Amino acid sequence: MKEKYYITTPIYYPSGNWHLGHCYTTVICDAIARFKRMDGFDVFFLTGTDEHGVKIEKRAAEHNTTPKAFVDGLVDNIKDLWKVLGISYDKFIRTTDDYHVEAVQKMFKRLYDQGDIYKAEYEGNYCTPCESFWTESQLVDGKCPDCGRPVEKAKEESYFFRLSKYQDKLIELYNKNPEFISPKSRMNEMINNFIKPGLQDLCVSRTSFKWGIPVTFDDKHVIYVWVDALTNYITALGYEGKDDSLFKKYWPANLHMVGKEIVRFHTIIWPAILMALGIEMPQKVYGHGWLLIGGDKMSKSKGNVVDPFVLSERYGVDAVRYFLLREVPFGSDGVYTNEALITRTNADLANDLGNLVSRTTAMITQYFGGVVPAHDAKEDIDDELIGLCKDALAKVRSHIDNLLVPEALVEIFRLVQRANKYIDETMPWVLAKDESKKARLGTVLYNLAETIRYSAVLLSPFMPTTAQKIFDSLQLGALPADFESIKEFGGLAVGGNVVKGNALFPRLDMKKELAELEKLAEAQAKAKEQPKQEVVEEQPKAEITIDDFAKVELATAKVLTCEKVAKSDKLLKLTLDVAGKERTVVSGIAQHYTPEYMVGKTVVIVKNLKPVKLRGILSEGMILCASNGKDVVFVTPEKEIESGSGVN
Ligand code: ME8
Ligand code: MG
Repeated sequence: MKEKYYITTPIYYPSGNWHLGHCYTTVICDAIARFKRMDGFDVFFLTGTDEHGVKIEKRAAEHNTTPKAFVDGLVDNIKDLWKVLGISYDKFIRTTDDYHVEAVQKMFKRLYDQGDIYKAEYEGNYCTPCESFWTESQLVDGKCPDCGRPVEKAKEESYFFRLSKYQDKLIELYNKNPEFISPKSRMNEMINNFIKPGLQDLCVSRTSFKWGIPVTFDDKHVIYVWVDALTNYITALGYEGKDDSLFKKYWPANLHMVGKEIVRFHTIIWPAILMALGIEMPQKVYGHGWLLIGGDKMSKSKGNVVDPFVLSERYGVDAVRYFLLREVPFGSDGVYTNEALITRTNADLANDLGNLVSRTTAMITQYFGGVVPAHDAKEDIDDELIGLCKDALAKVRSHIDNLLVPEALVEIFRLVQRANKYIDETMPWVLAKDESKKARLGTVLYNLAETIRYSAVLLSPFMPTTAQKIFDSLQLGALPADFESIKEFGGLAVGGNVVKGNALFPRLDMKKELAELEKLAEAQAKAKEQPKQEVVEEQPKAEITIDDFAKVELATAKVLTCEKVAKSDKLLKLTLDVAGKERTVVSGIAQHYTPEYMVGKTVVIVKNLKPVKLRGILSEGMILCASNGKDVVFVTPEKEIESGSGVN
């Protein structure tokens, strides 16, 4: 039976403004998950979204929509992002999923019944952007110690979790498992900054807002978003649900991968909750560093394009994946600049890898008609290359086990670089001139093609698209699901075909790319500053008489159904009831309202507008909206009134 491996990313806040930094945790986990699957483990890879909290409630209100409808759109968007980046998660959990909500409620009740949660009055400082409570002594200059933003005084009747009770047990956990918090430096941070000053009981419910999981036995209260969020790692497996077979199979987690700013939640609060519930501890929490832009945590970017959709489209998803996996020293911070991305792509991907594949396939095409040649007796010069290939998997595995992801890639690229050097040393073009060296030429090219095959198999967890392209040039079909095929050097079949494909990574012109990216970044920054002008500037219009106005027939209508128009981000298609008759209207309000929000609303339409076809849909009329050039809100009657009522 395969050994299980359970790996998780944090669940993401649905911010919608995805940047390269957000992709970091998930791309790393994906590479590890793919490697472990190929290495014979039964992997379960979890990701998802963290959707409750006052922040979402406020933003939804600003968008005139419900929190659920608001997050739905953003969740679709992050799923698109993971699809573009090739993230091979096994499950996507949303904290708004019914099974999660019910399981969290059950756990909360159980902890209350057993005395680990109690009710009291709380006074503290709340940082809304971070969703964190802080004591007076934890504040830095009166501000949130995590983000430096102002905090608000908050006084609530609250439920508390007896975190203080677990102080000694936590210390014991760290002592017994010195790698529980990794890298080591983060362990010291936790002990010195949080455990040593003494743990206080944690406020785990709120009454000041509604968008959260209600406490079943006291429905004024919603459960603190971090308690809700952390438990996703077990509810996703069916803990406290209808079927807990996944929980039985995969828990405890082998690895919770998280950014360094949330190590505290994962190594103090989370283990304490698990201890209270009597559940086994996860094996490891790894706190990775940040991807910085100009010394900042990526939020304020100037001149640099950090939109992962744009970068993947422009340079290929594997250039983005490679950059994230290779550039940031694991555990520390790394810096993104357009220049760094282009330099990496050119040096490692275009020059080293791309060149090796294109030179080798070109020579096999030229000298052997595109057929993999037979290989003959080895020479000393071959040994080093073959030896590197044979040892590579064990080395890469050891780096992955130690979570040294960039080192794993360095190891694979060592093969690539050695093979390029081997070309220079063996000079196949010289061998080709001498008919008596034909067998030697065949051996050299065979060794190169075989090294390329090894590299592709090893690269497939990190750069699946590129690995497949290499396999396509070697005409080897689909990538293997495991590492069996690279146990023996010489596995590549003699007599197989090779095709010279397009360059894997075309060389980028630094100057030209930087200029283009800068333009792109400027355009993006502008688009963010100025909300799109949806509505034509107001022009003074000619006076009209009451008779002119009477030509316009306005009426109320009730929205029966509403959906997005395919391939349009502006248009909604609505079915309206107008005095018992249905009609379809297409309206350009998709950036202001979600379909869910519109259903059941009463709107005012121009009933006698000449029908027009929009995106192939016949629109019979138009919905009246008020707009200041930025916000768009639809007009609705002040009281309930039948649909089809005239408006004049
Ligand atoms: O913290 N560089 O979610 P989140 C590297 N919902 N990693 C970055 C980054 C950057 N510039 N910016 C963000 C939350 N990340 C909670 C988690 S888990 C029970 C709840 C990483 O959307 C960040 O470190 O703020 C974290 O690992 C992930 O993106 C999600 O962050
Ligand atoms: Mg965060």
